[in-house]
Amino acid sequence: MKIENYRGVIERYRKFLPVSKTTPVVTLLEGNTPLIFSPKISRLLGSKFRVYLKYEGLNPTSSFKDRGMTVAVSKAKEEKQYAVICASTGNTSASAAAYAARANLKCIVVIPQGAIALGKLAQALMHNARVVAIDGNFDDALRIVREISLRFPVRLVNSINPHRIEGQKTASFEIADVLGDAPVFHSLPVGNAGNITAYWKGYKEYYSFKKISHLPVMLGFQAKGSSPIVQGYPFKRPKTVATAIRIGNPASWKKAVEARNESGGIIDSVTDREIIYVYKLLAKEEGIFVEPASSASVAGLLKLNKQGYFDRFIKRFGEITITCTLTGHGLKDPELAVKKIKPPGVVKPTLEAVVKKSRINREDAVP
Ligand code: F0G
Repeated sequence: MKIENYRGVIERYRKFLPVSKTTPVVTLLEGNTPLIFSPKISRLLGSKFRVYLKYEGLNPTSSFKDRGMTVAVSKAKEEKQYAVICASTGNTSASAAAYAARANLKCIVVIPQGAIALGKLAQALMHNARVVAIDGNFDDALRIVREISLRFPVRLVNSINPHRIEGQKTASFEIADVLGDAPVFHSLPVGNAGNITAYWKGYKEYYSFKKISHLPVMLGFQAKGSSPIVQGYPFKRPKTVATAIRIGNPASWKKAVEARNESGGIIDSVTDREIIYVYKLLAKEEGIFVEPASSASVAGLLKLNKQGYFDRFIKRFGEITITCTLTGHGLKDPELAVKKIKPPGVVKPTLEAVVKKSRINREDAVP
């Protein structure tokens, strides 16, 4: 069997992206992530649902950011930049650092002190970024790097850089290519609101190229303690266990509202308790380990379903297909995982002690 020569999202979707023959392609073979059918979540919603999970944690730096970063860093290289800069709740900095390393560019990342997951910090450090922690939040960091990028010759690679959005829209192309059409609903977490902007742009482009027969309804979910779009005002002190989306004043606020309005969708919030419930559920029932921010997309579906939101769509369509973006890998935040699930205690090194502790039972053994 011939193994497909996969060359990353720029080569796969070149004609939809702002690259030319002379653009140096900086890639770590991002994208091409699995779209996994979820029997458990589908069943939990009801017999008429087919839920698919777009597992973006399987990108090279373990989050969806790599799709945008391959384009942003390739363009920075093409435009002879020598450094890239970003503010981040962790994943953007991990991705920027890796792609900058690959491209021989310097990378500066500004992060909120004590508010990013350990794995993400390790990534930025290992990829040799200059990491600056500020005694402030993500919104402060973004304000500062925006200003720096205007005054110094460094390229901003946050999602206000349009090349990021261009790259990230390829996730909706992949979903449509696998399903053969758009889903009825697409659900995803919302932080700085770049990704919902990117998915909606991708679906609209595929629709205009007649690659899909309809547009999906977009569902975005913020964490309740960081839900400026839902509440309609910026949050000065955003709070949530899902540090990736702890953002009080999203840069792409307007575009997210446009995506919601044009698609007839919803941007709502989910509580930390709902986020953690799904975080554990996906790991324990589906074998899929995501970071807490990612589980907001599924938590939101459970919430809307309880409120009867989908009923009229089921009447209209019979069966409904929903895709959910799982934005980042659970291994990004191992500290949280072991905090939420108590590790077992230590026992004596004997067969009896191990059997007792692991609750192995002869009666459990089914031939
Ligand atoms: N999920 C994860 C795991 C994220 O890291 C982010 C954003 C989001 C969801 C929200 O996406 O911002 O496009 O609405 N993380 C950014 C960062 C802010 O700095 O890594 P968004």
